[in-house]
Amino acid sequence: MPQSATKPFIDVLSGQRQSIPPMWMMRQAGRYLPEYREVRAKAGGFLDLCFNPELAAEVTLQPIRRFGFDAAIIFSDILVIPHALGRSVRFEVGEGPRLDPLDDPAKVATLAARADFVKLKPVFEALKLVRAALDPKTALIGFCGAPWTVATYMVAGQGTPDQAPARMMAYRHPEAFSKIVDVLVESSIQYLLLQLEAGANALQIFDTWAGVLPPAEFARWSVEPTRRIVEGVRAKVPDAKIIGFPRGAGAQLPAYVEATGVNAVSIDWTAEPGFIRERVQSKVAVQGNLDPLVLITGGAALDRAVDDVLANFAQGRFIFNLGHGIQPETPIVHVEQMIRRVRG
Ligand code: CP3
Repeated sequence: MPQSATKPFIDVLSGQRQSIPPMWMMRQAGRYLPEYREVRAKAGGFLDLCFNPELAAEVTLQPIRRFGFDAAIIFSDILVIPHALGRSVRFEVGEGPRLDPLDDPAKVATLAARADFVKLKPVFEALKLVRAALDPKTALIGFCGAPWTVATYMVAGQGTPDQAPARMMAYRHPEAFSKIVDVLVESSIQYLLLQLEAGANALQIFDTWAGVLPPAEFARWSVEPTRRIVEGVRAKVPDAKIIGFPRGAGAQLPAYVEATGVNAVSIDWTAEPGFIRERVQSKVAVQGNLDPLVLITGGAALDRAVDDVLANFAQGRFIFNLGHGIQPETPIVHVEQMIRRVRG
């Protein structure tokens, strides 16, 4: 029996619907868990935690032990790639990431062409530790940010409400902006391949800021670089299972799926169910899309929202997840309530 036949999550990505949808949560290792906060406090900085293989493996496994999810996602961050490219990346408590802005062509000219993957060795070590500790039925997900989303942080040096600095730079200096994207495409391909080698069973490409782009820019900066990454990974690992998450892509999801060749798309909570079933789930597996705010709310509203997600998508190839990451203030009992409702 092929190994994947023992993992419901991988089976869905391979095209086989499961009667009980496999489930996990974006940001499932995180501040809503007391055991995470404890490890986080003793690790020092956020990147120190990402680059400590034992501790990163421990926090990756915490939500699996507590909730028995069908997939673990390696504890790391999309901004480890700029770090490996030699950019300064810091995480200030309560403020999110801070990078040295890469906001004009002269600065882009100094950007390294290649990432130094020696710097990311602890991530690969953590993947090995997690894969060895996981039940064979539980999948391990590796990930990277999509070039567009990673570039938005590299250009602005931080998160902004609508990532205007990167959008402006892409209009004003398309050649310099392309160079950033090209470097990210190449390093992401290598990074994902190294994660597969270290034990990842599937990959997710996070394009958190896809939804701020007009259609033509979306095609150029979100879809095309993602397509190149999928192609580059599959050139070495033809059956690599890849999930795309172009958050906010809305009506452009069918074009994204068609062009990129992903095995599944993760959809946010604004997606229109009939449209998704007809135009997206008919082609690939769908993952999502409970509103993280209803998970904070709990009660009857949560039950109703979980039932809606299942009614909308569980007749097809489906992985139950949130529409974006779980929020730190989410009560753990609500996560338990959601799991009971899904697994019935
Ligand atoms: O459990 C998991 O999902 C795996 C770990 C993971 C993290 N970041 C850990 C993290 C993953 C998959 C990410 C991806 C990521 N990182 C994205 C794409 C997905 C998304 O949520 O939109 C983005 C845009 C980033 C960049 C990033 N990292 C931001 C904007 C922030 C600050 C916001 C925040 O929540 O504090 C981070 C920090 C971060 N990455 C935390 C965690 C658990 C919180 C920091 C902490 O614990 O101190």
